[in-house]
Amino acid sequence: HRTAAVIPAAGRGVRLGPGAPKALRALGGAPMLVHAVRAMAASRAVELVVVVAPPDGAPEVRNLLDAHVLPERTDYVVVPGGDTRQESVALGLKALPDTITTVLVHDAARPLVPVDTVDAVVEAVRSGAQAVVPALPLADTVKQVEPRGGGEPEPVVATPDRSTLRAVQTPQGFERGVLQLAHDTVGSVGEGATDCAGMVEQLGSPVVVVPGHEEAFKVTRPLDLVLAEAVLARRRA
Ligand code: CTP
Ligand code: MG
Repeated sequence: HRTAAVIPAAGRGVRLGPGAPKALRALGGAPMLVHAVRAMAASRAVELVVVVAPPDGAPEVRNLLDAHVLPERTDYVVVPGGDTRQESVALGLKALPDTITTVLVHDAARPLVPVDTVDAVVEAVRSGAQAVVPALPLADTVKQVEPRGGGEPEPVVATPDRSTLRAVQTPQGFERGVLQLAHDTVGSVGEGATDCAGMVEQLGSPVVVVPGHEEAFKVTRPLDLVLAEAVLARRRA
């Protein structure tokens, strides 16, 4: 097994508010993307990191990674991304050398995922799983509603049994062939998959969940940045 990590980092970060693209926003003095690359490179299994930059931002991202300290044997390439996360991941996959057999896909927006979580995902793929997602049980009860929008009251349709639900994180790990097939088939027609594993599910291929980690949360809204800074401060204390 030879493993590479693809990091989609081409999003604008609309929900985080105005400013630089989300992956380039500072966290503990370094861009969020640098933390995410370090988190992947921290795993001994990962031999290559493919960073998918904003469409016109590849040179800037290359300079930025060159300017920051990464684990010593980190090999990385930077490619321009697309309009959706799915497109960005597909562009990242194109940059993988033939020798790679296991692919991790990791959001730049999850800069603080611990190496043990990365290793657990890699290990599950090496043990024979075609697709692996780290996930956590939900703290909140979840309601399915009839969406109305505009702050109008929304009728509740159902309350799914919380004990069977999981909130999924990244890195998601794949046997390379199944992920590529999902992008080649589902990807060209499909809408409605918000993660890579969802595309593999649409193929009818099995996906398994392993335990995620609370520090693998996604930085989405401003409050998440406050939490991320606090987690970093606690690590450095
Ligand atoms: N992403 C990407 N290419 C896109 C859109 C998203 O590579 N066209 C990446 C983001 O950079 C991020 C990951 O996918 O690392 C998860 O997406 P999300 O958290 O939604 O980030 P953004 O799309 O940037 O944020 P928002 O949806 O608030 O605009
Ligand atoms: Mg988005």
